[in-house]
Amino acid sequence: MKRVRRVGVLTGGGDAPGLNAAIKSLVYFASNHDITVVAVHDGWRGLLKEGVGETRILDPHVVRTWDREGGTRIGSSRTNPFAAKVEGKTIDRSGEILANMERLRLDGLVAMGGEDTLGVARKLSRLGARIVGVPKTVDLDLPGTDYTLGFHTAMQYCTEAIERSRTPAGSHHWIQVVEVMGRHAGHLALWSGVAGGAFMTLIPEVRFDYRRVAQLLRARLVRGDKDRRYPRYAVVVVAEGAAAEGEGLVTAEDGQDAFGHVHLGGIGEVLSRRLRKDDGLESRTAVLGHPQRGGEPSPIDRIVGWLFGRAAVEALVDRKFGHMVSAKGVPPACSTRLVDLAILDRGIKTVDLARYYDRSFYRLK
Ligand code: F6P
Repeated sequence: MKRVRRVGVLTGGGDAPGLNAAIKSLVYFASNHDITVVAVHDGWRGLLKEGVGETRILDPHVVRTWDREGGTRIGSSRTNPFAAKVEGKTIDRSGEILANMERLRLDGLVAMGGEDTLGVARKLSRLGARIVGVPKTVDLDLPGTDYTLGFHTAMQYCTEAIERSRTPAGSHHWIQVVEVMGRHAGHLALWSGVAGGAFMTLIPEVRFDYRRVAQLLRARLVRGDKDRRYPRYAVVVVAEGAAAEGEGLVTAEDGQDAFGHVHLGGIGEVLSRRLRKDDGLESRTAVLGHPQRGGEPSPIDRIVGWLFGRAAVEALVDRKFGHMVSAKGVPPACSTRLVDLAILDRGIKTVDLARYYDRSFYRLK
């Protein structure tokens, strides 16, 4: 079996806290096996013709302090080499990626990403590329793993924002709508809503009935008005991908990204405006936006970064290409194992409604 001596690492898609910890871990454990780690910058773009050359060797001295930092030190992009836009045309540039991996003399590549980046890894693996995947996304929507890097830090941030929005809403007796990310999965919204004590949480998995939402809110406020022991405000968490029955997704801008995703955003304000205009309910909106993905990684994301980096090195040493490292159980004391990248063909993992979601009251069961 040919020994792995030199590997690349890239991070693709939306950044997530914990990526730098995973890179540090990869470099540290790789050095124990005399494996050189080469940083490929800006995701898959770094392996296209124009990107290649922007590589650098990562040794333990370089990455020593990275684990405490958010974002990704090696840059990211939403590049889809299988559908690259060149002079208005969409072409398949995956051949360039394979050629550049050879040119850089990479015995393997660690791709850290979500459904898109790892989806590309899956397709390239089928073409013979030697890739190990590391799951990251604040959306927690990847199949085959109980945890994805970045989720915990993002949930902590959302929880704090929800929590902070309670006092102004309480003082002024209004409804505070808090819009959080998560794309087409409600994990981030639901769990931060529970932790932050939201009155209701609207998630993409269940179309909400606008009249029912307004009725529940009114009933809460009326009860608080009559009997001061009860609250006269409500915090509503809404996931960016949530939509009302019979209505489409609300988007922040037109067009799609390289993977065909629409740019979600704005459902919070649509809901708030409607509550004000149609129901006379005083309502405000806070859109948490990209800071949800920012900031220093939480202890959980640092620890899982370490575990995933170590598992990726073990996979490289054993030449288990075409796999993604995955977590089983609750971090930090979770176990790691490898799953075939083919698991991504199942599509995203959404909230287990039967277990966790009360569709009548839009909250945890
Ligand atoms: O997948 C992570 C995520 O933050 C989603 O929650 C969100 O819909 C999307 O990325 C935003 O994309 P961009 O960073 O391109 O604005």
